Amino acid sequence: MSAPTPVAIVTGASRGIGYAIAEELARRGHRLALLARSTGPLEEAARRLAGAAPAVRAFPCDVRQAEQVAATFRQLLDWGGRADVLVNNAGIGGFGPLHELSEAVWNDTLDTNLRGAFLCSKAVAPQMIRQRSGYIINISSLAGKNAFAGAAAYCASKWGLLGLTKCMAEDLRGYGIRVTAICPGSVQTEFSPHAGKDPARMLQPEDVARAVGWLIEQDARSFPSEIDLRPTQKP
Ligand SMILES: NC(=O)c1ccc[n+]([C@@H]2O[C@H](COP(=O)([O-])OP(=O)(O)OC[C@H]3O[C@@H](n4cnc5c(N)ncnc54)[C@H](OP(=O)(O)O)[C@@H]3O)[C@@H](O)[C@H]2O)c1
Repeated sequence: MSAPTPVAIVTGASRGIGYAIAEELARRGHRLALLARSTGPLEEAARRLAGAAPAVRAFPCDVRQAEQVAATFRQLLDWGGRADVLVNNAGIGGFGPLHELSEAVWNDTLDTNLRGAFLCSKAVAPQMIRQRSGYIINISSLAGKNAFAGAAAYCASKWGLLGLTKCMAEDLRGYGIRVTAICPGSVQTEFSPHAGKDPARMLQPEDVARAVGWLIEQDARSFPSEIDLRPTQKP
C-alpha cells in the first residue's frame, strides 16, 4: 500500500512567512490546509498555491477563538483525513512601552501568539497521537530570547511560546510527535516597519520556510528543540 499524501496545516498562511512555508510544504508534496482570519487574501493564497500542491483548502479561522479553532480543526481533519505537520505561525506584533501598553494590546498579542498556538496544537494532537506521528513547528522569534524596549507583550508571547514548545515536546515525543520552535531575526514582511533596519540585509520569508523544510526532512527519530535563524549581516 502506498503512503498517504501528507497533510500540512499552516496558520497565518495568507501572506509573509506563513505563505512561504505553505509554498515550501507544497513543493514537498503536502496537501495544504491554510488558516488566517481574512477570507479574501486566504482564498487568493490558496488559488496561487493550487498548482503547486496535491490539494489546497482555505479554512478562515481566528486562532484566538477557542470554539472557532475546534470547529475548524474538525472540518480540516474531515477534509484531510490526517495531520502530518502543523505550523503555528499566525502572529501579531503588539508594541509599546510597558507604561503605555493597553490591556487590550497585551491580551490580543498573547491570545494570538501564545494561546492560539496552544489551541491549534491541542486541536491537532489527538489525531497525531492516533497516527503515532506528526510534527508541530512553532514560529517564535529571537524576541523570545532577547529583550528590547517597547516589546513587553511581544517578547512575553514569544518567550512563552518557547516554554510551550518544550513542554509540548515532552508531552508528545512518546507518541512519535516532534515539536520544534524556529526563532527568526527580522524578516522582510508586512508584519512591522522594522524602523532603522536595512531591508536588503533582513531575512526573507523563504529563509524561514527552508528551515521548516529542513526540519521535516530529518529522520523521525530526531528533532532539534529550537532553531535560531539570523541574518548574516546585522540589518
Ligand atoms: N517579520 C518578522 O520580522 C518576524 C520575525 C520573527 C518572527 N516572526 C513571526 O513570524 C510569524 C509570521 O509573521 P509575518 O512577518 O509573516 O507576519 P504577517 O506578514 O503580518 O502575516 C501574519 C499572518 O498571520 C495571520 N493572522 C494574524 N492574526 C491571526 C489570527 N488571530 N488568527 C489567524 N491568523 C492570524 C494574518 O492573516 P489575517 O490578518 O487575515 O488573520 C497573516 O496571514 C509571526 O508569528 C511573527 O511573530 C516574524
